[in-house]
Amino acid sequence: KSGVFTYDPGFMATASCRSAITYIDGDKGILLYRGYPIEQLAVQCDFLEVAYLILNGELPTRKQKDEFVSIIKSHTMVHDQLTRFYNGFRRDAHPMAVLVGVVGALSAFYHDAMDISDQYHRDISAHRLIAKLPTITAMAYKYNVGQPFMYPRNDLEYTANFMHMMFATPCERYEPNPVLVRALDRILILHADHEQNASTSTVRLAGSSGANPFACIAAGIACLWGPAHGGANEAVLNMLEEIGDVSRIGEYIKRAKSKDDPFRLMGFGHRVYKNYDPRAKLMRETCHEVLNELGLHDHKLFKLAMALEKIALEDEYFVERKLYPNVDFYSGIVQSALGIPTRLFTAIFAMARTVGWIAQWNEMISDPDQKIGRPRQLYTGTTQRDVVPIDRRG
Ligand code: SDX
Repeated sequence: KSGVFTYDPGFMATASCRSAITYIDGDKGILLYRGYPIEQLAVQCDFLEVAYLILNGELPTRKQKDEFVSIIKSHTMVHDQLTRFYNGFRRDAHPMAVLVGVVGALSAFYHDAMDISDQYHRDISAHRLIAKLPTITAMAYKYNVGQPFMYPRNDLEYTANFMHMMFATPCERYEPNPVLVRALDRILILHADHEQNASTSTVRLAGSSGANPFACIAAGIACLWGPAHGGANEAVLNMLEEIGDVSRIGEYIKRAKSKDDPFRLMGFGHRVYKNYDPRAKLMRETCHEVLNELGLHDHKLFKLAMALEKIALEDEYFVERKLYPNVDFYSGIVQSALGIPTRLFTAIFAMARTVGWIAQWNEMISDPDQKIGRPRQLYTGTTQRDVVPIDRRG
């Protein structure tokens, strides 16, 4: 028994850690952050409220939330010298390459937040990361499109401020559309944490050595970049663009089923969910809301995605293997409709997941019994043998 949940001994043996942050029931398609269903949090809360919950274990009171928001706003700017890092990148550098580099480099600036044994250091590094990821991500976009960086506006809430830093220019103010801000805020909530996924496990393993939080989060960003993980939302958009028309769906379904073809249906399947990913349902609803708000009822890719989903869910290959749409299947379409370029999707995933990574890292660091992670292996190499001097080899 772990808390109020009972696990069979086999599962207990495979579990990499104990955690009280996020609960997933993959068979039933259940996702809880600190006991609250994702369906309620995504509709009734905003991202910083959910971030407070994930970090602290309880939803904030109005006073606690106002204090938390004020702290985050005090860290939204980056050290001015950090802006020089961007000039070292190619203009067409992938935003995730920039994030890995710049977030890792935060450990070269914030020496007052590196001592992981000091709770104040742990708190301030958490606040800085949550506050600065949007700024760093928006700067990566601005650098890519050749526009000047926009300073944060602390009169705006978290997600609206990110959209300001993305879409405003010194010549044109960006007035955030509340429906679109709410949609992106919901996307951040849906991506905030997800138990021991590959990137979170990476952050935990890096953190178990005592590495500083900025380096650990940079490690998580690097892992999230992969197309089998956080890079899938970008891959879904590219896949839908390539399919192009409903008439070609059958060809791609056939390829996805073929053992001889490495192609997989991006945005489908999951290591844990063997039911519909609850986040995918919420993402599809959000997609409807955004497209309606923008008058894009006939959005080509959304209609293609829905047709693809319908065909796949009726195909015995996918049904037998319990392959359903996951969080990435619709998230790219929503972000594309919001005017966010495809290459930035995974960076926005990283922005949101930074909250979960920090909470999971803190939970591990705070465990008095915590030891350095040291996975073992089954050795499949040769048995012991002696070295032959090079002139007598071959
Ligand atoms: C995320 O872990 C997390 O929580 C991750 C995440 C999070 O929030 O952190 O949820 C975010 O990473 C979501 C997943 C995003 N990735 C994709 O959408 C990429 C496409 N999906 C696949 O690459 C795949 O489904 C994985 C990587 C997600 C899971 O791969 P597995 O572990 O191989 O899946 P499985 O064991 O369930 O596969 C069972 C069968 C296999 O075929 P058989 O050997 O039984 O014949 O299903 C096949 C797989 O080949 N299969 C697919 C498929 N996914 C699995 N076949 C075609 N298309 C697919 N997408």
